[in-house]
Amino acid sequence: LPELPHGYNFRPVEKSDYSNLYIETLKVLTTVGDISAENFDEVYNHWLSLPDIYKPHVITNAEGVVVATGMLLVEKKVIHLCGKVGHIEDIAVANTEQGKNLGRAMITRLTDIAKTIGCYKVILDCSPHNVGFYEKCGYSKAGLEMCTRF
Ligand code: ACO
Repeated sequence: LPELPHGYNFRPVEKSDYSNLYIETLKVLTTVGDISAENFDEVYNHWLSLPDIYKPHVITNAEGVVVATGMLLVEKKVIHLCGKVGHIEDIAVANTEQGKNLGRAMITRLTDIAKTIGCYKVILDCSPHNVGFYEKCGYSKAGLEMCTRF
């Protein structure tokens, strides 16, 4: 796995990350909205109640502040001999911390967890401008994302 900069740490999300720039970091990715501490606790408790499925992670800097986010979801299937598929979601690196290999560190660590758990593959959706990034993380194009919105 690629090294993290000195003092940086990869770890599961903690409840206290709400007030440790977790929400602000996600805003690099997309619209988040005003999330109260209670809103966050509800989501966090849901994740915590299903630990085999939800594996949300962060990278913190030398000050212990969240600078990158990433979620691994593990889906248990019937096909492929009741195999498991990993899904990577919600990857965001704080603007000031981009280009330091944190994105790659996040993807390779989540992928390594999926492999260790026994997933036979990991899949993710991304925009065309991020294809090069994921290729550098060892991923290749497969299929096409489809979506219906409500
Ligand atoms: N296109 C092509 N190559 C890229 C891109 C890109 N958009 N971004 C980074 N790279 C390259 C880097 O140059 C580096 O290459 P090198 O080994 O030759 O030096 C390599 O990929 C690794 O780059 P990192 O430094 O790890 O990238 P970074 O930490 O900046 O994270 C990320 C990349 C996650 C895309 C970040 O820019 C970001 O948060 N963007 C905004 C949010 C976003 O788009 N998230 C991904 C959504 S998809 C999903 O969540 C499944």
